[in-house]
Amino acid sequence: MEAQVASLSPLDSERFGIVVARADGVSAAAVPALLSFAREHEVEMLIARCDGADQAAARALADAGLTLLETQITYRGSLGLQSRDAGIRAGVADDALAVAELARQGFKDLAGHYHADSRLSSHACEEIYVDWALRGLAGEAAEAFYVAEVEGRVAAFGMFTQSGAEVTFQLSTVASWARGKGLYTACLRRGMVWGAEQGADEMIGITAHGNIPAQRNLIKAGLRPVAGTSTFHGWRDRLVMPR
Ligand SMILES: CC(C)(COP(=O)(O)OP(=O)(O)OC[C@H]1O[C@@H](n2cnc3c(N)ncnc32)[C@H](O)[C@@H]1OP(=O)(O)O)[C@@H](O)C(=O)NCCC(=O)NCCS
Repeated sequence: MEAQVASLSPLDSERFGIVVARADGVSAAAVPALLSFAREHEVEMLIARCDGADQAAARALADAGLTLLETQITYRGSLGLQSRDAGIRAGVADDALAVAELARQGFKDLAGHYHADSRLSSHACEEIYVDWALRGLAGEAAEAFYVAEVEGRVAAFGMFTQSGAEVTFQLSTVASWARGKGLYTACLRRGMVWGAEQGADEMIGITAHGNIPAQRNLIKAGLRPVAGTSTFHGWRDRLVMPR
C-alpha cells in the first residue's frame, strides 16, 4: 500500500474550526501529491514540514504557495549518568492550574508556526500550549511529567515521551520569576534519569532556531544539534494547484 502523503489533523481542525492537514518529511517530489490530497480532502490549512537542509523541498513548497513560518533544530544526546536535582517531583492532578498558567505565560510570545500565522487567532494559538501541557500532565500527551518547585510554588515543568531507545523532551517552561536558576536543565536531567530507568539511551530535544536559552540549556545537558526542520503553512486560497 502506498504511504499516505499527509493526514488530517482532528486536533488542529477542532482548535481552529477549519479542516487542517499535516505532512512531515515532505520532499520536492511529494509536493504534487500533497496538493492533490489537500484538494481531495478540502483542506483549508496545510501544515507541511521538510528537512531544514532540503532546499529543493523548501522551494517546491514555496512555489506551491506555502509560507515558511518556523524553523527548528533537533538536538540529541546520550542519557548517560544524571543526578536527580532537589525540588523536582512528578506532576499531579492538583498542579493543573499552575501548569496551565505557566504554559499560558511561557508560550505567549513564542514564535512558533501557529503564532506566526496571522490568519490564526492568537488566543487559540496560546491555548494550544496550555492544552498540550495539561494533556501531558494527564498522561495523554506525555509519559513522564515533572515540576520544579521553588519556595512551595510550581516554577517550571518538563514533559517527556519515549519511543524505543529514544526519549523526547516534549515541552517545558520556566516561570519568568524563576529563570536563570537552572530549572529547565533540572527538569531535563530528571527526564533523562526517567528515560534511563525505562531502558532508553538517548534524549531528543527540539526547539525553535531562535530560542537561544533553550538551546544553551540543551547543550549544557550534553545534547548536540543533529537536524533542522522547516515548517510551512499553506492556505487553500493561496495554494497553486497542479493542472
Ligand atoms: C527556555 C527557558 C525554559 C529557559 O529558562 P532557564 O532554564 O531559566 O534558562 P536561563 O534563563 O538561565 O537561560 C539559559 C541561558 O541562556 C541565556 N539567555 C537567556 N536569554 C537569552 C537571550 N535572549 N539571548 C541570549 N542568551 C540568553 C542565559 O543567560 C543562560 O546563559 P548560560 O548558558 O550562560 O547559563 C525559559 O526561557 C522559558 O520558559 N521560555 C519560554 C518557553 C520556552 O521557550 N520553552 C522551551 C521550548 S523548547
